[in-house]
Amino acid sequence: GQTTQLEPHRPQFHFSPKVGWMNDPNGMVYLKGTYHLFFQHFPTGTKWGPMHWGHATSKDLVHWQEHPIALYPDSLGWIFSGSAVVDVKNTSGFGKNGQTPIVAIFTHHNQDLEKKKSDKFQYQSLAYSLDEGKTWTKYAGNPVLPNPGISDFRDPKVRWYEPQQKWIMTLATKDRVTFYSSPDLKTWSKESDFGNSVGAHGGVWECPDLFPLEYNGKKAWVLLVSINPGGPNGGSATQYFVGDFDGKTFKPYSTKTKWMDYGTDNYAGVTFSNTGNRVILMGWMSNWQYAEVVPTDAWRSANTIARELGLTEINQELFLTSEPVKELTALKGQSLSLKNLSIHTGYDLTAKVNNKTGLFKLELATQATADFSITLGNKKGDELIIGYDKQANEYYIDRSHSGKVNFEKGFGKRHSAPRISVNPNLTLTLLADVASVELFADSGLTVMTDIFFPNTELTKLYLKSATGILITDLTYTSLDGSGKKG
Ligand code: FRU
Repeated sequence: GQTTQLEPHRPQFHFSPKVGWMNDPNGMVYLKGTYHLFFQHFPTGTKWGPMHWGHATSKDLVHWQEHPIALYPDSLGWIFSGSAVVDVKNTSGFGKNGQTPIVAIFTHHNQDLEKKKSDKFQYQSLAYSLDEGKTWTKYAGNPVLPNPGISDFRDPKVRWYEPQQKWIMTLATKDRVTFYSSPDLKTWSKESDFGNSVGAHGGVWECPDLFPLEYNGKKAWVLLVSINPGGPNGGSATQYFVGDFDGKTFKPYSTKTKWMDYGTDNYAGVTFSNTGNRVILMGWMSNWQYAEVVPTDAWRSANTIARELGLTEINQELFLTSEPVKELTALKGQSLSLKNLSIHTGYDLTAKVNNKTGLFKLELATQATADFSITLGNKKGDELIIGYDKQANEYYIDRSHSGKVNFEKGFGKRHSAPRISVNPNLTLTLLADVASVELFADSGLTVMTDIFFPNTELTKLYLKSATGILITDLTYTSLDGSGKKG
């Protein structure tokens, strides 16, 4: 609609900052009906620079409202990534007169020390809020976890470990994660290291997260680790391990490398704290390989939509699933369902579904028996193709001809992802915004997120299958008008 013409490539149902640079989501926490998102932010530049924590809130994980900056750089350094917890028992003592503090645990990045070639330029610090996230006070005793001499020592993700009544910090420490524990968020002791000899190591380990999930009445722990570079389709990506955690050590059930999202544009994703049994993640919808040169003007980057995480067992092995949060149905626009759609060569859905703005959710069900693809196009000839390759048993997103691609040599590529499901029935959900597509195949077992920059909106929509295929169910839901702030 209107906004896209004024600001080309501005996402409509994904959070993006009004102005300036954004990277990782930080300090995501739910409190009293409000979801808080903080984020790595350089408000006066559109490339990475001195990091602040920006702030936005939402009542429904879909419509976000941006607020004044929460944390500014200070004499200890720039404010790098970290997490936030609701300190219900006031273990930190920051709460006064019965107030419940929100405590942010973040990395201070000290440029002066880095320039002096010291290894100790990153360390962990605290800030707290007593007014539900509106204003923040940095702790006078910072840093709370000094650097032991490890050049990459950052991105603390903290959670309460109920069985032992202590806080656990999961920290990225160069080529591994290190777990620390604390009774009060202020004093930390090392528990163990994990990962220097397992998993993908194409780049430095960053932004870890550790959380339990239930499956079949059992419980397993998931450890997310973002790596940059070394992702399955190049650049930054997030791998995960499933295993046991006993308050001290993490033991993976399998050391096979697994990826939360095979697309190129879901990085540094972590989960919200204080959401009870729900495990909700958002990631940064970009990639360090080209994030600073993507063709947007006033701002750079958006987040993925919020996703609910789960576990599924396939041949005795546990896999992480990601699906759009149910709150996304709040965006429901005009919708159309078609049954038993037989595709021979091509089928033009554009007029049938009235795909006016190219913002939609498409759900379809078929059998994993033949190649098929979904093409998003425009009158300028740009095409973004999402498909299933039967022989390779892979999903793919091809953005080679999706519009502006030459700003970086590796951008205009085809990306692929293994089909993990062994179910003969194939289902997928596709979310298309102005500048992104998110593919959730087989109930979120294979996920791909890719961004793109077409020369004009991708409002044509085709289904294709060279060999022919029967789509048993197809539902198109328009997400037009979804950008209106609620
Ligand atoms: C990941 C990251 C983090 C770091 C932050 C700095 O994208 O490199 O490791 O804290 O970005 O902005």
